[in-house]
Amino acid sequence: MTDSTFQRHVVYPQTIEYDVVNANNLFQPQNPALLSAGKTRNSRRFVVVDHNVEKHYSTEIQNYFEYHQVDAKIFTFPGGEENKTIEYYLAIVRELDSFPIHRRDEPIIAIGGGVLTDVTAFVASTYRRGVPHIKVPTTLMGYVDASIGIKTGVNFNGNKNRLGSFQAPQKVLLDKSFLRTLPQRHILNGVCEIIKLAVIKDAELFHMLEMYGQQSVESHFQNDEGGRILDRAIAGMLEELQPNLFEEELARKVDFGHTFSYGLETDHEADLFHGEAVLLDIILSVVIAKSRNLLTEEDTGRIFELIHKLGISLDIALLEPELLWQSLEERTYHRNGLQRVPMPHGIGTCVFINDINANEIEENIKLLEEWMVVKHGNA
Ligand SMILES: NC(=O)c1ccc[n+]([C@@H]2O[C@H](COP(=O)([O-])OP(=O)(O)OC[C@H]3O[C@@H](n4cnc5c(N)ncnc54)[C@H](O)[C@@H]3O)[C@@H](O)[C@H]2O)c1
Repeated sequence: MTDSTFQRHVVYPQTIEYDVVNANNLFQPQNPALLSAGKTRNSRRFVVVDHNVEKHYSTEIQNYFEYHQVDAKIFTFPGGEENKTIEYYLAIVRELDSFPIHRRDEPIIAIGGGVLTDVTAFVASTYRRGVPHIKVPTTLMGYVDASIGIKTGVNFNGNKNRLGSFQAPQKVLLDKSFLRTLPQRHILNGVCEIIKLAVIKDAELFHMLEMYGQQSVESHFQNDEGGRILDRAIAGMLEELQPNLFEEELARKVDFGHTFSYGLETDHEADLFHGEAVLLDIILSVVIAKSRNLLTEEDTGRIFELIHKLGISLDIALLEPELLWQSLEERTYHRNGLQRVPMPHGIGTCVFINDINANEIEENIKLLEEWMVVKHGNA
């Protein structure tokens, strides 16, 4: 008998690279952007398209692939959080299996909101242990947040994004003209994530929102100032994501608004969008920050005034202390045992705190209710 002393340390360095680029008029046949990754001639593409996008662009999409002689299979996906399921994940995998694609040079193309890009990217990351994909966001939430990072996932067992992966796209193609047809409530839903970035890390972006936010919302960001707000928000988001793509560092500024919102959106999936839950979390966090003297009365007022000016209405009755405390506890597990809650310290800068207790949540909900009555005459 020989003693086995075999030991080998395996290292495989991998560089993650992908492009996030403006690409207007994506379905114009002469525009090569959609086929700029992978091979073109005599090739195939599996394309997942949001049903509300398909309504507006089905002919253009068909014509685009015909023009390039690419055999495309279009899978129409109904957006909405209720469809971010393992069942839809499997439905996409089944369709994909009936339309074989090359493993390396025929990327899956995902065209839709955050739900669609999260589910489709999860398919891409697991199908044959990973095939390439391209993302084309068509909602504001997707444009400034969901599509530009590398997180994929589906909801499972009553939990948001419980199954998922980190998988970089080959490209993210940004065409803000998709936002023209997006319902107003979904525009505001995306604006909540822009407010998040502005408050926690970018005072200049906050100022731009104060100056041009209202007109940008009204024009669905088709105005020049709206375009500049979007570019700055994406640049800021990528600045945070790039050095921490796999979230080894768990204290993340971009988690501002994503502590109490977790419980809110899980419990109120039918009537609260992701961004709306995030903004409810933000306003409570702002009041906590004010109580801890991290924010002045003036800065607190500016934040509430901006939200009011942009026309975002919030149902603060949804803020139940016990639900928010449970959400904080869940996020503490997610953040490896420490709360790591980002809090604004003045507009545009941030600290992380680890000692929020249930009483503090309850007391600050009461203060928030008083603040809403004083400032806007409603609670
Ligand atoms: N992966 C990430 O890092 C990340 C980050 C933020 C949010 N998310 C996820 O994003 C999801 C929310 O994304 P969402 O708000 O885009 O939701 P969504 O994908 O459900 O889209 C919202 C609605 O807009 C419709 N729609 C899409 N594009 C349209 C267009 N151009 N015109 C008209 N209607 C259109 C859809 O059909 C849907 O009804 C959540 O599941 C959230 O967890 C992921």
